[in-house]
Amino acid sequence: MVERVKTGIEGLDKALNGGIPARNLVLVSGGAGTGKSTLCMQYLVNGAKMFKERGLYISTEQSDGELKKQGEQYGWNLWELEEKGLLKVIYIDIIKGGNFIEKTREAIKNFKPKRLVIDSMSTLSDYMAVTDYSKQSWSITTIQNNVIPQFFSEKLMSKKILTALINELKNFDATALLTTELPEQGGQLSADGLSEYICDGVILLYHTTIGGENFGNIQIRKMRYTSHQHGMFSTVINEKGLTVGEETTLIK
Ligand SMILES: Nc1ncnc2c1ncn2[C@@H]1O[C@H](COP(=O)(O)OP(=O)(O)OP(=O)(O)O)[C@@H](O)[C@H]1O
Ligand SMILES: [Mg+2]
Repeated sequence: MVERVKTGIEGLDKALNGGIPARNLVLVSGGAGTGKSTLCMQYLVNGAKMFKERGLYISTEQSDGELKKQGEQYGWNLWELEEKGLLKVIYIDIIKGGNFIEKTREAIKNFKPKRLVIDSMSTLSDYMAVTDYSKQSWSITTIQNNVIPQFFSEKLMSKKILTALINELKNFDATALLTTELPEQGGQLSADGLSEYICDGVILLYHTTIGGENFGNIQIRKMRYTSHQHGMFSTVINEKGLTVGEETTLIK
């Protein structure tokens, strides 16, 4: 039997045939404002409230305070969950530099979360430019006694960092959601075009606004170690957070 981690979002757990296989690293991919952060926060809030499981939210985009205010919009008291030791929200400013992977590793080691969120992975390519990794962006080859520096392409660098991060995360007992910006054009499922292959699962979010109300779709594009529904399901974001409804056709 596959050990599963329930998102606590009923329609999504149903589409996942019970939940995310434990310790899977899952990409949550979607355009701007599709509900990536909402879904991730809800996953941690539900884990804390329903199952008393510790959740760690590592943010590279919104500050600790901004995220808590966003949670308040959905009626979630993140301050209270933090006081109870069931939640930790950490903001890592990638512009300031420092080693993202090291900071992430330390935070996980200290808090020992069952559920982990990294929001967002898209900023990792920016991070690449300001950290030690940039110093490793070339190597030396010798051809007929000539020393030639060889520069790695940006894509290869991204792959190195992503692989390092994902391998690092696999060392821990956490089931993780990692967000990424889905480009409007093109056939990729993530900002970098690589994460979808490296991660264990991919959940896609789409959305549209009609008459001031948000309507959207969610689709499980990939989930290792389980069977799952492959179709599109409707989503609504309201004052209670994100709800997953019936199987539907794509609304764009
Ligand atoms: N209380 C609410 N009721 C209804 N809709 C809301 C409420 N709060 C937020 N929303 C909607 O939910 C959307 C999703 O927000 P969220 O921050 O989760 O998306 P995101 O995909 O993480 O966005 P970004 O690309 O900026 O990171 C918002 O754009 C907003 O339209
Ligand atoms: Mg977000």
